[in-house]
Amino acid sequence: MFALILPFLPFLFLMMIACNLIRRSREVPTIGHPRLPPGSMGWPYVGETLGLYTQNPNTFFSNRQKRYGKIFKSHILGCPCVMISSPEIAKIILTQSHLFKPTYPISKEMMLGPQAIFFQQGSYHSHLKKLIQSSFLPSAIKGMVHKIEDIVLDLIASWDQHTNTINTLHEMKKYSYEVAMISVFGKEVEVNEIEGLKSLYNCIEKGYNSMPLNLLGTSFNKAMKARKLLNERLRKMIENRREIVEYGGGLLGVLLGLKEQDQLSDEQIADNIIGVIFAAHDTTASVLTWLLKYLHDYPHLLDAVKVEQEEIRCKRMETKRGITWEDTRHMPVTTRVIQETLRTASILSFLFREAVEDVELEGYLIPRGWKVLPLFRTIHYSSEFFPDPDKFDPSRFEVAPRASTYMPFGNGAHSCPGSELAKVEMLILIHHLTASYRWEVIGENNGIEYVPFPVPKHGLPIKLHRI
Ligand code: HEM
Repeated sequence: MFALILPFLPFLFLMMIACNLIRRSREVPTIGHPRLPPGSMGWPYVGETLGLYTQNPNTFFSNRQKRYGKIFKSHILGCPCVMISSPEIAKIILTQSHLFKPTYPISKEMMLGPQAIFFQQGSYHSHLKKLIQSSFLPSAIKGMVHKIEDIVLDLIASWDQHTNTINTLHEMKKYSYEVAMISVFGKEVEVNEIEGLKSLYNCIEKGYNSMPLNLLGTSFNKAMKARKLLNERLRKMIENRREIVEYGGGLLGVLLGLKEQDQLSDEQIADNIIGVIFAAHDTTASVLTWLLKYLHDYPHLLDAVKVEQEEIRCKRMETKRGITWEDTRHMPVTTRVIQETLRTASILSFLFREAVEDVELEGYLIPRGWKVLPLFRTIHYSSEFFPDPDKFDPSRFEVAPRASTYMPFGNGAHSCPGSELAKVEMLILIHHLTASYRWEVIGENNGIEYVPFPVPKHGLPIKLHRI
């Protein structure tokens, strides 16, 4: 784990020194004010960064929770912060967006586009959110089901030519990318654009988590160049669609069709199209990879899923039709396996927010400018809310989880607008996959790597056997 952050250390130290200077210039009030939460700020400058990145993050968080409780202070990546593992307080942090704003390093903002939804607050954010949500409501997804099914069938057929050995993560990325493209550009997505945009995206993804050094040859520099090209291509697509007054389907169609004061500039449209594809792609692919791993590791669950899917397949065969939205609403066993996968994988272990003013919570002070981290993974692994939390047990979702204890898609104003699409993607893939193949994991089956989301080691290479 230490090797992972070694190349970033010089940059981390610079950040820490900068943050420390800023912090010193703003003394934290102590007299006559609520006190700071308990916890350790670690070493000068370094804080607890090395502790977090040199051990299992679960251990780091749970040790501190045991020692200090569900709200504690720390100091990581050069910033003072408060970590939260109480669902009720996490909900406050995520829903009181006038007190806690989303915060990202400037390099990420530059890469995704400063006008993208993730970085916004207030009325511009609400406007964007309504528009994006409208493209991912069940009524909109219904119309995409056949196209998603076609993508799945093509993908599965392509595996026959791979001597039946595939890298799960790579294949799931191909899948989630194509689904993201149709949801953003409509079913008639400009075919010649897909591959070109994809290679630019790959380049951005490689640079997104690299050290933000904009020097010739660095991953960051390549990603920034790819970002510029991506922007140019999108601007051309926007121009073409505007010229022929044929706005097309998908989110782009919605954004181009806005009238009068609702209209967005081309920059706003481009940044949000790029952002949505980015948000939809790696997240869904990482969860799908875990889903295939868990179904492999728990054959009794795979059998139960197969029985459920076979029943739907028989009905489809009788009426000679493809899968429908309604079919996906009648998959309770598979749905619970997906819910449990989202809990155990917790691919977004925590989020960053920043206090916009001094805030008092549970008798503690959170000073303005401090980072606040709701710890989703810690909450998802709490035995108080999920008994025997290390056990992969989809039956726990036969009863709805306690309010605010299950947040794989976040909560509040910035919660995920793509959650339904992600689930439908998983259901349709599982429907066809379990009917066509069984699979075995090749090599080590227990490691985890971070790319940047946690995924099974080496992207879970598997050997497929046609049924
Ligand atoms: C299993 C897959 C996915 C997971 C686990 C996931 C998780 C999340 C989470 C936790 C957030 C909240 C971030 C925050 O509060 O700062 C979020 C936001 C977002 N997600 Fe997803 N997501 C997934 C798939 C998708 C898909 C398929 C789309 C496509 C529409 C999407 C689009 C977005 C967007 C645009 C936001 C930003 C919303 C805002 O800032 O208001 N996500 N996602």
